[in-house]
Amino acid sequence: MQSYEEILAEVLIDSDSLQKRVAELGAQVSADYDGRDLVLICILRGAVPFMVDLSRRITVPHMMDFMAVSSYGIGKYESTGSVRVTFDLQMDIRNRNVLLVEDIVDSGHTIASVLEMLGTRQPQSLKVCALLDKPERREAHVPIDYLGFSIPNKYVFGYGLDLDEYHRNLTFVGVVDLEKYKAD
Ligand code: IMP
Ligand code: MG
Repeated sequence: MQSYEEILAEVLIDSDSLQKRVAELGAQVSADYDGRDLVLICILRGAVPFMVDLSRRITVPHMMDFMAVSSYGIGKYESTGSVRVTFDLQMDIRNRNVLLVEDIVDSGHTIASVLEMLGTRQPQSLKVCALLDKPERREAHVPIDYLGFSIPNKYVFGYGLDLDEYHRNLTFVGVVDLEKYKAD
């Protein structure tokens, strides 16, 4: 894999801006869930850094759980209507206030399917917190209750988002230079 410097077109959201926005979201969530039980659900793997930072900014007691889904994609970077759960929650979410934490909402199919599936488990409430939104790419309607940043239709990486599984560790969100990036 190439180093990130070799394939970075531009830094879209720097580390300070991310941390500042995550702190604001944490404060908003803390106010909204004051006095209520809360479980954060992280969609693996992209939402891990965001969920960890967000959780540390949430001042109400809360639990965490994790799930992984894989989409039956048309291409590597496209998702379709159907997703399959590859790693399910360990917790029973019935009667719980659930906040789904996702890295990015693109076509919307992933979150739409996860919402539909978790809805059948009868949580008390079910909301979505996404770090990034690419509204131009939306195909499925999804309500985003808490949003970090709305971004243009560009392929981004860092802060959880991967380039063929690499570079999730970066503390900023960058745009890929597709002319320089050589996928295997
Ligand atoms: P959706 O089902 O099209 O909304 O797809 C959302 C998923 O696609 C996200 O959870 C990401 O894993 C992935 N994704 C979409 N856009 C990007 C991007 O720009 N960089 C990295 N991953 C992306
Ligand atoms: Mg993802």
